[in-house]
Amino acid sequence: MSAARPPAGTDVPHQRPVEDELTQAVLDSFRDTEDPRLRELMRSLVRHLHAFIRDVRLTEDEWQQAVAFLTAVGRSTTDRRQEFVLLSDVLGASMQTINVNHETVDDATEATVVGPFFVEGAPEIPLGGDLAGGAPGEPCWVEGTVTDTAGNPVPGARLDVWEADEDGLYDVQYGPDRTAARAHLFTDDHGHYAFWGLTPTPYPVPHDGPVGALLARTGRSPLRASHLHVKATAAGLRTVITHIFVEGDRLLSQDAVFGVKDSLVKKFDRQPPGTPTPDGRLLPDRSWTRVRFDIVLRHA
Ligand code: BEZ
Ligand code: FE
Repeated sequence: MSAARPPAGTDVPHQRPVEDELTQAVLDSFRDTEDPRLRELMRSLVRHLHAFIRDVRLTEDEWQQAVAFLTAVGRSTTDRRQEFVLLSDVLGASMQTINVNHETVDDATEATVVGPFFVEGAPEIPLGGDLAGGAPGEPCWVEGTVTDTAGNPVPGARLDVWEADEDGLYDVQYGPDRTAARAHLFTDDHGHYAFWGLTPTPYPVPHDGPVGALLARTGRSPLRASHLHVKATAAGLRTVITHIFVEGDRLLSQDAVFGVKDSLVKKFDRQPPGTPTPDGRLLPDRSWTRVRFDIVLRHA
């Protein structure tokens, strides 16, 4: 860092005209962009990018480091790993995009990040079925209803559910041939659903790449608050991709991707071993939990 460089936020009056002139020239260069939305996006991006560079008085060395970092993010991205999305996630950009596109309306279920572990075509389970598929973890009975914002039950709504096991891993992280702790099911004629899953536990976002290095250098944890992913889809209603978070989880206020919304935090009631289960399943030797999550969908 050069000793001569003024601190962030410092205006450098004699430089202002030349810096303003450059910003304006770049803004003007998009004048003939045919697509008005693209023109708006590019001009706003340039305005904010130039303002950032000027605000922090970016050094050439820092600019080079930024380019090297983005290059490493690109090199880490493969068919199976999206380091750019992860970067967007840990910067809160994914969550802010969701906020902008999914306004909080009435009591409609709020959306949160999809994450990298959703897989199309997960197996169907019947109502009351078990999605664990052998994945290790404490059993969890999840039930609720799907209604529209007027309170009408939604029969036949599709729920896709996926979660990490108690070792903090999704099935796909073991290899391409494993399917566990993920399934889909449909609500009954009264819009009711129930299934056995696993009590969610905390786990880290992938942190063995450049984004993980950034988290480490900035003293941030890669851990996500414990959660179970739910995607709810029904004809004529807006799809919501959301989570159920665990009340009392110490990570609720420091989720690595800023995905927590208060309305999604639910009580997972722990039941001692031997407690009768809602469907007569025998669990004599282990505790289990139960949670209620009612889903409210907006009209499309
Ligand atoms: C997840 O919930 O699985 C996740 C979300 C964002 C980044 C990484 C993982
Ligand atoms: Fe997740």
